[in-house]
Amino acid sequence: MFRRNRTGDVRSAMGMAGFSASSSDGSVRTFQLSPSSVLKIQKGDITVWSVDGSTDAIVNTTSKLMLGDGGVDEAIHRAAGPELLEACRKVPKVQNFSRITVRCPTGEARITPAFRLPVSHVIHTVGPIYYSDEHPEISLTNAYRNSLTLAKENNVQYIAFPAISCGLYRYPFKEASRIAISVAKEFLGSFKEIHFVLFSDKLYGVWLNTANADTGLQLLAKKTLSLSSSFAPVSASRDRWLGASLCHVQTLTIAALPDLPYDYGALEPTISREIMKIHHQKHHQMYITNYNNALEQLDAAIAKGDVSAVVQLQSTIKFNGGGHVNHTIFWQNLKPTNEGGGEPPHSTLGWAIDTNFGSLEALIQKMNAEGAALQGSGWVWLALDKSNKKLSVETTANQDPLVTKGATLVPLLGIDVWEHAYYLQYKNVRSDYLKNIWKVINWKYASEVYDKETA
Ligand SMILES: [Fe+2]
Repeated sequence: MFRRNRTGDVRSAMGMAGFSASSSDGSVRTFQLSPSSVLKIQKGDITVWSVDGSTDAIVNTTSKLMLGDGGVDEAIHRAAGPELLEACRKVPKVQNFSRITVRCPTGEARITPAFRLPVSHVIHTVGPIYYSDEHPEISLTNAYRNSLTLAKENNVQYIAFPAISCGLYRYPFKEASRIAISVAKEFLGSFKEIHFVLFSDKLYGVWLNTANADTGLQLLAKKTLSLSSSFAPVSASRDRWLGASLCHVQTLTIAALPDLPYDYGALEPTISREIMKIHHQKHHQMYITNYNNALEQLDAAIAKGDVSAVVQLQSTIKFNGGGHVNHTIFWQNLKPTNEGGGEPPHSTLGWAIDTNFGSLEALIQKMNAEGAALQGSGWVWLALDKSNKKLSVETTANQDPLVTKGATLVPLLGIDVWEHAYYLQYKNVRSDYLKNIWKVINWKYASEVYDKETA
């Protein structure tokens, strides 16, 4: 990813505003932001960073007049050539809130071509001076957010940031890294890669610690491991979508949190935003984290030939892997009411429900009754038996996937009856949760799975 620039010279940043002379020292850590995007933290010289020269951009931390005022700004201008300064001078001047004429007020962002830099664009932003800005956390958040928004509007797919405001502007590293990573996570799926290219060991270490401590991020490891023996395979009908949440990185396959196909608040009033957010970001993420950790331990145990450890890990893998499988299906089973959630199934699945249960109402009553009666935590399912094409209602305990009840069973609908799925809104009245959830059930998805599995 570091390469020669367009003029052919390899820029050692030695002597350039304190940058590391190393352009790629191997200190790169990759974290999963979403199934399709990653966050990378690395040491290096941002002026030689690039990916493809056409959809990539670096962020320049400039001053309000954008004239190359030292630090990262000066280094970037030196590498880009005088054309960049000329382009900056052409950026229209505006008055900031203090009526001072500037080109880029604090927290805002501007874009120019990159000229002799190896990337396609430079996004210029102005970070806050920590001890004089009235709300430095808001200004820093805006600097990251506006840079990413502007990049997205210009079809940038790969973007690299320095540590905004962490030089002369004295922003505390730890807090700055928390804001930087938090804003990057707002742009799940908008970029293929978001990089933080940090010029010192200290900045690199702080950014890495913050990312490692963030439960919403998964460090992508480098070892080889097969999932085949981890738990019973999910049904073929779910393979495609679940597969999208499995990330192949180098030679390791690990699980990653899939995006929801709707906003957290989109299922209100049936399921509150708070429940959806915690359920997705905390609970589902926890299963994934534990599952991935267990896979690493399994890998080590297999390598050592430690049979006891291999056996002991099976229950952890089954529980947490099951949690990932089940929740991945569950998010697909829900749909906002204004997008068709709750609309009854028609044609083939509708007829099959009438044949097997008498009516849709009878099926719902049966699932509600079995879900309410399930002791402890678990799931209630509408299952299709592929061997005879019959429908049935099943329950599973804890995080056992439906397939543990029968290898030929395919889940059309799975309803989570763990307290974490409803307690914040429905308290201990699980039956009310079950009664209401049908308003946001995605029958279209269930019908598609049914049609595919019975074709
Ligand atoms: Fe859950």
